[in-house]
Amino acid sequence: MTDHSTKTQEATRGQSDLGSDPAGPSGAPEGRRSSLLDDSWNYVESVELDDFTLPDWNLLKRQRGPYYAEEQARQALRLLTCSAEDASFGYHINNYRHCLQTATLAHRAGEDEETVVVALLHDIGFVTCPDSHGEFAASLLANYISEKNHWMLCRHAIFQQVHLAGLHDPGFDPDERERWRGHPFFEWTANFVDRYDQRAMCASYDTLPVEFFEPMVQRLFARPPRSLPLE
Ligand SMILES: [Fe+2]
Ligand SMILES: [Fe+2]
Repeated sequence: MTDHSTKTQEATRGQSDLGSDPAGPSGAPEGRRSSLLDDSWNYVESVELDDFTLPDWNLLKRQRGPYYAEEQARQALRLLTCSAEDASFGYHINNYRHCLQTATLAHRAGEDEETVVVALLHDIGFVTCPDSHGEFAASLLANYISEKNHWMLCRHAIFQQVHLAGLHDPGFDPDERERWRGHPFFEWTANFVDRYDQRAMCASYDTLPVEFFEPMVQRLFARPPRSLPLE
């Protein structure tokens, strides 16, 4: 067992332990180790993967499980909550509130917990990668959600275009979703967008706070991940 002050000293001492190759990042003398999540944990001895020993690797395998159990859901939520006070570019509410409101609508409609979390995170990349934000959310959740919700996330922005058909904007095609007509997940995707996503933009709606959804996010990421073969 190592107490925190000792760990801090170790972190400082690590500054001079970082190898001697001036060409590599390990040669930076002013280096500072990040803290460890648990005071009883340790750092690997080696810096570069090429130098890893079996004890280094086993140490990482021991500490990785509890680290992810605590941090994965928390850091995913932080990706969302960091935008809580951000401005809108014209919508009555910002993207963070839109996400909360979408999840609130799904929850109040009686959707299952997975779908509520999917609704909460469906636009998590809306500002940072607008043109592929559906795929962004789908990748974030891929190992923990159904094929149906994964399919929906990837295509929800295209399905949303039908709700703007009356504008006749040449920038998008309201019928683009029709190429998937007849697919087993077509109706679900249309319903998600129609009932929750495209409606969740109201400043006066009684939206549930993020704290309400946090345990759901933690439970989702605690699921045994399903492996996804590379295509
Ligand atoms: Fe979206
Ligand atoms: Fe949305």
